[in-house]
Amino acid sequence: ASIRLIGIPGSLRRHSYCTAILRTLRDELLEHVTLDIFELGQIPLFNEDHETEDFPSSVQTFKDAVAQCDGVVIVSPEYNYGIPGVFKNALDWASRPMNASPFAGKPTLVMTASPAFTGGVRAQVQIAETLRAMLAHVVSSPQVVVPAAHTKIEDGRLKDPVSLDFAMKAIDALVVAIKERRLITVD
Ligand code: FNR
Repeated sequence: ASIRLIGIPGSLRRHSYCTAILRTLRDELLEHVTLDIFELGQIPLFNEDHETEDFPSSVQTFKDAVAQCDGVVIVSPEYNYGIPGVFKNALDWASRPMNASPFAGKPTLVMTASPAFTGGVRAQVQIAETLRAMLAHVVSSPQVVVPAAHTKIEDGRLKDPVSLDFAMKAIDALVVAIKERRLITVD
């Protein structure tokens, strides 16, 4: 059976390194695994009032995309040692209803990228923690960071074979988690 992944970049930047990495992974995947990139530019600021009135259609589209996929691949930057606000805002929308959101039980992989040598690792820890609050099944090994991203990305693609190989191994681990989940949820 085929496996459908969605890739969420934590950045809205046109020439985002994170989006470039997702694009590269999408192009490298085996035939039975697909990855659609879901960009967060249409998601409004979270407001609990809008959970009960005028629920934003862009948020519904996002939640449906998470609900309908087999697994999620997040590639995010780190802003000021933490989760970019744009991305945390989208996670807060998608975290509802509490304990029964589309992320509950969803195999989810988190990677970070940065021009810095720390590779966004502090944000990665925070994102994983937030996802655990949402009961996502966080694939915790290998933990992929792409440091010095500005030297590894050209023409909107990740050109560094070592980083790409590392990221593809993480995708393999995500696929294993998805297959295990299918076995468990047979009946
Ligand atoms: C950054 N950047 C950054 N990088 C990092 O490694 N640690 C950090 O704490 C921060 N803080 C930070 C704050 C703000 C407001 C901005 C705009 C940037 C640099 C960041 O890693 C860089 O801009 C990346 O290129 C952003 O990722 P995308 O857009 O290329 O995917």
